[in-house]
Amino acid sequence: MSGKAILDYDGKKVELDAVIGTENEVGLDITKLRAQTGLITLDPGFANTGSCKSDITFINGEKGILRYRGYAIEELAEKSSFLETAYLVLYGYLPSQKELNEFDAGIADEAELHTSMKSHFEGFPDQAPPMAILSSMLNTLACYNPELLTTTYEGEAFDTAVAKIMSKVRTIAAWSYRASRGKSYMAPSPSVSYCGNFLHMMFSRPFDLYEIKPEVEKAIDLFFLLHTDHEQNCSTSTVRIAGSSHVNLFTSVAAGVGALWGPLHGGANAAVIAMLENIHKNGIKLSDYVDAAKDKTNDTKLMGFGHRVYKNFDPRARILKTQVDNVLRALKIDDPLLNIARELEEVALSDEYFIERNLYPNVDFYSGILLKAIGIPVNMFTVMFAIGRMPGWIANWREMLSHNQRISRPRQIYTGENLRPYVPVVKR
Ligand code: CMC
Repeated sequence: MSGKAILDYDGKKVELDAVIGTENEVGLDITKLRAQTGLITLDPGFANTGSCKSDITFINGEKGILRYRGYAIEELAEKSSFLETAYLVLYGYLPSQKELNEFDAGIADEAELHTSMKSHFEGFPDQAPPMAILSSMLNTLACYNPELLTTTYEGEAFDTAVAKIMSKVRTIAAWSYRASRGKSYMAPSPSVSYCGNFLHMMFSRPFDLYEIKPEVEKAIDLFFLLHTDHEQNCSTSTVRIAGSSHVNLFTSVAAGVGALWGPLHGGANAAVIAMLENIHKNGIKLSDYVDAAKDKTNDTKLMGFGHRVYKNFDPRARILKTQVDNVLRALKIDDPLLNIARELEEVALSDEYFIERNLYPNVDFYSGILLKAIGIPVNMFTVMFAIGRMPGWIANWREMLSHNQRISRPRQIYTGENLRPYVPVVKR
């Protein structure tokens, strides 16, 4: 299939080629528009702009479909693991057992941090947000690996960078939590799984090892898997944009951490818990809260609802909702916030405002309750998102370089003053 669109502006006609994806999404190629006509397109927030062609993740927001490399998220959630899915997203295919074992072993080998990195953690004040520590420490890590400060996106050097980042991000995350609580650092254990090791470094105490419950380990693995990639979201676009200047992978993903931190993006998982706790503690009527979220004269939003792309259920939210039930039952936890979330969802989904705007629960609506149930502190929720998203960021950085993309440099429509003469300070 192919096609063309005609743009007619001020009596001048230009033909724009249609680019059609494997799922029949159509984009109009405007790369030559400015050279041919002097025109640019204007799309603040990039809601209608395809910034790249990508083979990694497919989303159909109208139908609530999410696939990594062609595999349905529901099937991966049921049958795969985070590390296998990370491999799939990074390298484009499901690994053989041998490849998976090597990938796993490479990551396990890289869990330790250089001993002098400890002093960097100590430089942060008490209560420093773990997202700030994570972003800084990823850049710090780059300093310990000068040979990897390149744009190499294949071969041994790339595989080493992947293993280092994916492994050490867990250690940095757990240690940033311990630093923020004034606790001693727990060295990684060589004998536990990827997720088990994270739990161990978070919660073990000297001479008192944390008991890694299989249902908790499985829940974390699923949480990471569901966050592995999500096409051109804010943080992934940030990673691509930073990387397009040919800065190294460590710095590019550190930039992604910064973008993820905001409450409209990854920070929403913590904001959902704050919202549910506020409703619970203050006995706010759910219909009153929903009314406040609809009222444009205040800043209240229904956190964990709405999505730029999904105009239907976020498939990750569906999976997490079931998982939350299972985990709470297995851990014998009765969290009143879960009931509030369920009822709030019901109230919102039957409200005309939310129906008209196609606002549904997104991944963050139930993920916070899951993380809370397994003992993850709220200020670590977005860090957990970052650990899960790391393979997606790396895969997008790699793809961007392999496509030999030009440096990202959007245009603008200038709306400021026209040329005016400088007025000396004494005359102003
Ligand atoms: N509560 C109340 N109204 C909302 C909400 C919400 N959560 N989300 C969107 N709306 C309204 C919005 O005000 C607008 O109304 P109107 O048409 O009257 O101006 C309409 O729905 C369309 O929304 P939008 O502003 O075009 O949406 P967007 O694509 O610019 O923003 C969003 C998407 C996710 C930032 C937004 O829905 C939001 O702020 N949600 C709450 C924060 C949240 O849960 N973020 C996590 C996103 S999923 C995971 C991730 O990407 O990190």
